[in-house]
Formats: sequence, structure tokens, C-alpha cells
Amino acid sequence: MSALPTAPSVPDPSQPSLLDPTGAFRDHYNRRSFMFAHGLSANPLFDLDNLLELAKRTPPQHEPYWSNGKVAIGNKWEAGTGGRASLPDTIANIEHNDSIVILKHTEQDPVYGPVLQDFLARVVAFAGEQMRSDVIVGETLILISSPNRVTPYHFDAETNFLVQVRGDKWFYVFDHEDRSLVTNEEREQYFAGDISSAVYRAERQKDAIAYDLKAGHGIHVPVAAPHWVQNSDNVSVAISVNYELRSVERTAKIHRINSRLRRLGLTPTPPGVSPVGDLFKLAAAGTIAGVRSLSRGGRSARTYGVWTPPPA
Ligand SMILES: [Fe+2]
Repeated sequence: MSALPTAPSVPDPSQPSLLDPTGAFRDHYNRRSFMFAHGLSANPLFDLDNLLELAKRTPPQHEPYWSNGKVAIGNKWEAGTGGRASLPDTIANIEHNDSIVILKHTEQDPVYGPVLQDFLARVVAFAGEQMRSDVIVGETLILISSPNRVTPYHFDAETNFLVQVRGDKWFYVFDHEDRSLVTNEEREQYFAGDISSAVYRAERQKDAIAYDLKAGHGIHVPVAAPHWVQNSDNVSVAISVNYELRSVERTAKIHRINSRLRRLGLTPTPPGVSPVGDLFKLAAAGTIAGVRSLSRGGRSARTYGVWTPPPA
């Protein structure tokens, strides 16, 4: 594996929750992973008792995820979600039940919202216009995991800032541009609906950057950078601060068209290779979406509130 990155110093908890003294957010945003320090670890909102109350008042349309029992690096997200304990019981026994919980849309909660929306805005302000103009919505997810729990290998369509607030873990990130790690076929499958499409290749583990991630620090994970997590022998609480991007939505449409073409036996050109071909595919995607919208009686809306970046 690559040399271990060194951790920046943790800011004073009385100071703003995020600072960027070296310009890392501006310089490296969506180009490569990096570690940063933050000031959220001292906040009692992230104690388990308070998180249990948050889970109990989470609206069902926020669709919390939880999984019970041991999983492996190569498992899919479905692993451990059949016949599971209730969400409150899973959190209450998290120290002993080898589980992971993901509470979604937590920036919409009246108690957590002010802190998390402030953090969402700070990231965008530090990364600058390159990010602000590209963001559709921002969201924070709170991840609670048992001692030694594995989060399987996967990639995400959102640009992500993983903020560790309790406990330590090993966080492994791979190059988001290496098509021998995540193939075009795997990307097409992902955007066609299989969010576990990335296949872990043990022989490529040596190519990961291994972050010794401790509370008070975070990792930036660029869009589509594969990653997996090995929790240390402690309960972990982390916040996934992530953003849906216009640039990704565009690429996703092309991948979805390519997925259809591949099912017809063709070998489609990946996005970014042929600008004209991409435009044709985007036009086709718009036509298909229009027909679907008409047949469903209109465009479906989100059933929950969203955070969008404030104007520059
Ligand atoms: Fe992820």
C-alpha cells in the first residue's frame, strides 16, 4: 500500500467546525483523497444516547439503513439486512452486535440540522466555485458501527467528506480514475441500479491509500473512488458529508444509455471519449426520461427537504 499520510493537528473545539489552513479543499477537491482535521468530535450530539433519540424520530421516508452480523469486504449492501433487529435495538446494542447503522438526511433534523448544515456550507466555501456551481444538493449521513466491523468495498456517486467523530478505523481509498479497478461495465451497472456493482480485487489492495483515521479527522473521497473500511476495536461514529453533482448526473445518464447498448450486444464508448457521441446519448436520455415522465403523469419529487449551497 502507499505510504501512510500524516494527520493534521485537530482544531480547538471552541473554534469553527472546519478550517482549511493549507488550501487542501481548494487544491485537491475531487482530484485525490486527503486527510483533514475538524472540530465536531467534542460535540455531545454524537454520543450514542443522542443518536438513539435521533434514530427514533427519523421519518420513514429518510430510509435509514442498518445491517446486523459479520460481513466481508466483498459483500453487497444487502448482506445482514434480512431478519435483523429493530433500528433502536441495533443502536442500543451496537457495542456487541457486529452491526452498522446509516441515518440519512440528518441535516434536516431540527436538532442536528444547524451543526450539519453549517459543516456542509463550510466545505463548499473552502473548495470554492468549482464545487459550489456543481452541487445540486448536499446531505449528511451518520454512520454508527460496531467494534471491528467491516464496511464492504464500494464506490459512491456523490463526492464525500467522511468525518470521524468517535473511535478509530482503517480507511482504504483507491484511485477514482483507474478503469482497471472499477471497469466501465461496473460503472454502467451502478448507474443502472446496482449500487454494489464494484468487485473487490484482493490483488489490488496494495494500490490503496491506507488512512489511520482517528476521531477529529476526516477523509475526502472523490466521486467514484472505491473504498472500504475496517473499524478498530471500538464503536465508531462518523458523518458522511456528501454532495450530488451536476457533472455526475450528466455522466450517469451516459452510463445508463451505455448499459442499454451493452445489453444489445454493443461495446459502447465510455463518457468523455467522444463529445459528439456524449451529446447524442444525453439527448436520447432526455427523450427516454420525457416519455417516462409523461407515462407516470409527471416528474416525481423528493419526499423530504434538501440542503442546497448558499449563493457565493
Ligand atoms: Fe462510501
